[in-house]
Amino acid sequence: MSMQGFGEMISKLKKNPKSIVFTEGSDSRILEAASRMLASNFLTPILVGEPEAVKAAAEEANYNIRGAQIVDPNNYERMDEMVAAFCEIRKSKNMQPDEARKILAQGNYFGTMLVKMGEADALLGGVTYSTADTVRPALQIIKTKPGASIVSSCFIMVRPAASGEEEVLAMGDCAINIKPTADQLAEIAIGVAECGKVFGMDPKVAFLSYSTNGSAAGEDVDKMREATQKAKELRPDLLFEGELQFDAAVSPKVAAQKLPNSEIAGRVNTFIFPDINAGNIGYKIAQRLGNFSAYGPILLGLNAPVNDLSRGANAEEVYSMAIITAALAE
Ligand SMILES: CC(C)(COP(=O)(O)OP(=O)(O)OC[C@H]1O[C@@H](n2cnc3c(N)ncnc32)[C@H](O)[C@@H]1OP(=O)(O)O)[C@@H](O)C(=O)NCCC(=O)NCCS
Repeated sequence: MSMQGFGEMISKLKKNPKSIVFTEGSDSRILEAASRMLASNFLTPILVGEPEAVKAAAEEANYNIRGAQIVDPNNYERMDEMVAAFCEIRKSKNMQPDEARKILAQGNYFGTMLVKMGEADALLGGVTYSTADTVRPALQIIKTKPGASIVSSCFIMVRPAASGEEEVLAMGDCAINIKPTADQLAEIAIGVAECGKVFGMDPKVAFLSYSTNGSAAGEDVDKMREATQKAKELRPDLLFEGELQFDAAVSPKVAAQKLPNSEIAGRVNTFIFPDINAGNIGYKIAQRLGNFSAYGPILLGLNAPVNDLSRGANAEEVYSMAIITAALAE
């Protein structure tokens, strides 16, 4: 990846190195990415796993992970403290030490608690865990940051452009909230726009629908129109349009017909989908048929940077996501 903004993330990390927990420390893709991090020196990998097993896996695949921190949930010196902290966080669910100990033996919960306890700056998981199993501990333990009512997500989509530069788009929420409300969509749009800025984008945001400016009717049309209004009220400094169809969002010709007075229709680069069906299918169409590389889901609204990898991720994607995740740790 050579995206605008990515270089800035690396220089930021070089000035202020961060540590990142990998919940699946013995996976070969994680080990390959960890060996690259150790060689480049601005990101310290913390590998969750049984040390002998992690080292054996690295040796077998021929990756040098000397200097990596390996932490074993079954042999961790601060475990009593972790159990007590977890029981306190989950006391509304009446969490008891015996059950907490069982839960914290799992890499996803253990790793998330390492971030919570300040042992690591960030976390990346999901090469074997499902999205729900990576995200749920973060929702329960890290929780939303002040000012955020939900956790949502953003995909940064990148492909080479004819000009030799890169075309960069942002999309959300394609991964977390199944059926967001109008208020939640406004919050998602603001988060996705801000995330795009981190990648050097100048966000022009569309609330997508099967209707453009009242051309069709329905509950979801109303929802997207209401969300647009709310977003505009909350952030008059950002550019929002809605509700509109995808063609009116990206084609200047269609926009001139369907929405001639819009400041951004036809030139949209940030897409907000009405629900997870549309969003998840939409970003995968861009990825598989539109030749875009997909970076994400980047979680928005969490109190510490935690991200989820696709189970199909390769070592390059692990490495890129690790840099993105750690760079968001401020
Ligand atoms: C995110 C997700 C995993 C949460 O699922 P879940 O664990 O079944 O959800 P629950 O309702 O039991 O919530 C667990 C906790 O997270 C909180 N939570 C759930 N969704 C949240 C959100 N969007 N933002 C913030 N907190 C949230 C709940 O309040 C709850 O907190 P509590 O345990 O302290 O009371 C679920 O929404 C999901 O599966 N989304 C789709 C993910 C997916 O499969 N994507 C596929 C494409 S990548």
